[in-house]
Amino acid sequence: MAILGENVETPRELYVHQLGAALKMENKILEMLPQLEEEAQDGQLQKDLKKHQQETRAHVRNLEQVFRALGEEPDEQACPTIEGLEKEGQSMLGKVDESLNDAVILSAVVETEAHEIAVYDGLITVAEAMDDQDIVALLRGLATDRGLGAGAEALRQAHRPALVGAARRIVTERVRPARPDPFLWTQGAMMPS
Ligand SMILES: [Fe+2]
Repeated sequence: MAILGENVETPRELYVHQLGAALKMENKILEMLPQLEEEAQDGQLQKDLKKHQQETRAHVRNLEQVFRALGEEPDEQACPTIEGLEKEGQSMLGKVDESLNDAVILSAVVETEAHEIAVYDGLITVAEAMDDQDIVALLRGLATDRGLGAGAEALRQAHRPALVGAARRIVTERVRPARPDPFLWTQGAMMPS
C-alpha cells in the first residue's frame, strides 16, 4: 500500500487523500474566520463570522468521524485551493480602504463556501457509489442541518442591504466624473460636483 502523500495508487487511497484535503480545507477555514472577524467593520457581520466558526468546528468533527468509519486516522492533505482563496482575501484586504473590508469578506466567504460545496458533492458521490450509507449520512449531515451553504447564504441575505447600498454608490461614482475636467474648470464652464 502506498504511503499517503507520496503515491496514491488505489481508489480507496484516493478517497482517503481527498478526505484529508477536505479536512485541511475546514481547518484552514477555522483559522481564517477569526482573522476575518477582526477585519470586519459591521457588528452583525462579526457575530455571523463567529457563528460560522461553530458550524465549521462541527464540519471538522463530522469529517473526523468519516475517517474513523473508514478505519483511518484523520490526516490532513494539501489543499492549494483554500490556500489560494486565503491569499486572495488577504491581498485584497491589504489593498482596499477599510470601508470596503466587509464587501471583500463577504465575497471571500461566498467563494470559499462554493468550493466547499463542490468538495463535499464529490465525496458524497463516491460514498454513494461505495454504497456506504454511514459515510453518506455523515457527509450529508454536513450538507443539511445548519451546515453547508446555509451559513454563506445566511451571511449573504443578512448583509444584502449593505451590499445593495455599496452597489448604489458604485453607480453614483460611475456617473459622476472622478475629478473635474481641468480645462473646463479653468474656463469656469463647469463646477466640480
Ligand atoms: Fe465547512
